[in-house]
Amino acid sequence: MWGPRNPEMAPGRCPVRMTSKLRKDGLRQLRSASKGKIAGTFDAIRIENIRPSDYDEMLSLWERAGLPFKPTGRDSRKDMLRQMRLPTALYLKATDYRTAEKNRGASGEKKMVAKGRGVMVAVVLGTQDGRKGWVNRLAVLPGYRKKGLGKRLVRELERRFAKMGLGIFTCQIEDWNTVSLKVFKRLGYQLHKDISYLTKRRVKGI
Ligand SMILES: CC(C)(COP(=O)(O)OP(=O)(O)OC[C@H]1O[C@@H](n2cnc3c(N)ncnc32)[C@H](O)[C@@H]1OP(=O)(O)O)[C@@H](O)C(=O)NCCC(=O)NCCS
Repeated sequence: MWGPRNPEMAPGRCPVRMTSKLRKDGLRQLRSASKGKIAGTFDAIRIENIRPSDYDEMLSLWERAGLPFKPTGRDSRKDMLRQMRLPTALYLKATDYRTAEKNRGASGEKKMVAKGRGVMVAVVLGTQDGRKGWVNRLAVLPGYRKKGLGKRLVRELERRFAKMGLGIFTCQIEDWNTVSLKVFKRLGYQLHKDISYLTKRRVKGI
């Protein structure tokens, strides 16, 4: 349906939390990394803030990327529009201005993206609680993977978190998502096997 699995509802789910402490002298490295090798290779791919009008394209991207998400819960249009207005939200997209391609809307219909408008090829939702910066819902379209785009988005997020004074960046990865685990380890995140993820939900499926 919306992804390969719905891990939040799966029995025995064992999320993994990873954190990365930013040393003071690492800030300069982050700045150059966010501009780094990809900027040279993919000049036409720009990192921009997500806007409310991007909602449908973002859901389509998550679907095509095979990322599980909650279209009737915290990823619903209503809730996402609420989140986007919060000062704690750093929701970023990578747009490829080179291509115009067929796009599948959230409800499954096909449409053409107008030439020149650009195509959303990657997304990351950054949130921060004043203590830590959280990396959520990172996804890159299959055709754009292993080219450093995911890294570029995360580095840009880390740069913005660091500017806010945050020194710890963290993400939660489902235990089945071995690729994501490898990717975040490559980005310098440390796995904490001694931490359990607990939630309490006001409403089921949120
Ligand atoms: C995870 C994901 C976002 C990675 O995006 P990407 O653009 O392909 O990643 P990058 O090219 O920036 O790679 C970053 C690093 O991870 C490594 N890497 C990328 N894909 C990898 C893979 N499949 N296996 C092992 N390492 C991998 C890269 O070699 C790179 O390492 P380096 O900096 O040492 O060269 C992408 O695979 C994806 O969208 N997956 C589906 C959605 C998902 O699971 N999201 C994560 C939710 S927590």
